[in-house]
Amino acid sequence: MRVVFLSPSYPPEMQQYTRGLAEVGAEVYGVGDQPASALPASLKPHLRDWLQVPRIMDEDDVLERVTRWMRGRTVDKVLANWEPLVILAAKIRERWGVPGMSVDTVRGFRDKQLMKERVKAAGLRVPRSERVRNDGEAREAAERIGYPMVIKPIAGAGSADTYKVESARELEAALAKMHGVTEASCEEYITGEEFTFDTVCIAGKPAYENIASYLPKPLEARSNEWISPVIITVRDMYQARLKPGVELARNVLGALGMGDGFTHMEWFLTPKGEAVFGEIGCRPGGACLVDQMNYTSDIDLFREWARVAVHGRFEGPTERKYNAGIVFKRALGQGRITRIEGLNAWKRDCGRWVVEDKLLRPGAHRRDWKQTLLSDGHVLVRHPSWDEAYRMSFAAATDITLYAGG
Ligand SMILES: Nc1ncnc2c1ncn2[C@@H]1O[C@H](COP(=O)(O)OP(=O)(O)O)[C@@H](O)[C@H]1O
Ligand SMILES: [Mg+2]
Repeated sequence: MRVVFLSPSYPPEMQQYTRGLAEVGAEVYGVGDQPASALPASLKPHLRDWLQVPRIMDEDDVLERVTRWMRGRTVDKVLANWEPLVILAAKIRERWGVPGMSVDTVRGFRDKQLMKERVKAAGLRVPRSERVRNDGEAREAAERIGYPMVIKPIAGAGSADTYKVESARELEAALAKMHGVTEASCEEYITGEEFTFDTVCIAGKPAYENIASYLPKPLEARSNEWISPVIITVRDMYQARLKPGVELARNVLGALGMGDGFTHMEWFLTPKGEAVFGEIGCRPGGACLVDQMNYTSDIDLFREWARVAVHGRFEGPTERKYNAGIVFKRALGQGRITRIEGLNAWKRDCGRWVVEDKLLRPGAHRRDWKQTLLSDGHVLVRHPSWDEAYRMSFAAATDITLYAGG
């Protein structure tokens, strides 16, 4: 099986998918913008060959170069697991006649307005929304949608340039900050809890499913530096309260024509118990979500995704054994981390349920928490009981403090 995999080294978890592909017997042809000499040593054994392109985001250029590179060879799959490259992978597939999701289908997972139109056309509940291209259109949309409203880029990520606005005045303030954004989505603001619904699908049917709970919702987590965002996978994801979400999500996959691979959806559970669609991508969730799922089921989804993508089979266990909670920390102060308080006591309290500690250590430079949910590192804890996983996660959020300075 000859597989072209776009950007196998960046973001870093792509190296795990590359490893998975090699482990299920694929010959992986990697495409990225680094020189071969800069690739991590651990990645190289999993790559059959490497094409360096000048700009991985330049779709037309990459399409031409990859086509020249593979001329005369049969390619079985063209894959990408990083959001900005899923359309490019589909364009290459179409150009070469390689099976997989079409450009049009993938656009339904990439364009926030189009996805909502398609999901709504299937009779499913989506926020009222409109596509807008300038300030005037945004003001008109606000009159029809009403407040509170959300305005966000049509192909955004990580809640960047996303604002909740409660009035015409707040809309003006948001518009003033969004000048780099050429197309936006204005949406009815949905009140409620926010969850993910993640899958590895075979022909649009989940072979593995997951729900994770955002505590708090991503927009709040990204708007307040003092918050330590917590995300916990829900072991008991088929409980009655979450049923509307499971049903919604499975129907969304059908409505959008999902094929093989990962999906990452976000949805709201309103105080009345209704599930409302948020957004979906045909790629895995970022920020360690796949690690969390792996800890939830003692599974290797990097490899099982590869088995699905290459052979159309899933062989991992799907039993849900744990609630896996990740807690992202943001240091107080600027510059380099100087000390960490409360970590040892927290570890003593949680004992063997702590599965990862990737907090930055003294001397390391702080990360930009607005640019990356990873912030200044994380701890990951799991427990069979929801209440215990929740308690230990929030203990990490409140009792561990990183300091920076100098
Ligand atoms: N219609 C909405 N109602 C309420 N909250 C929303 C709405 N749209 C977005 N948000 C909030 O903003 C966050 C980011 O929006 P989202 O569409 O998920 O974009 P991104 O691609 O940046 O993740 C969501 O996770 C949610 O917290
Ligand atoms: Mg989102």
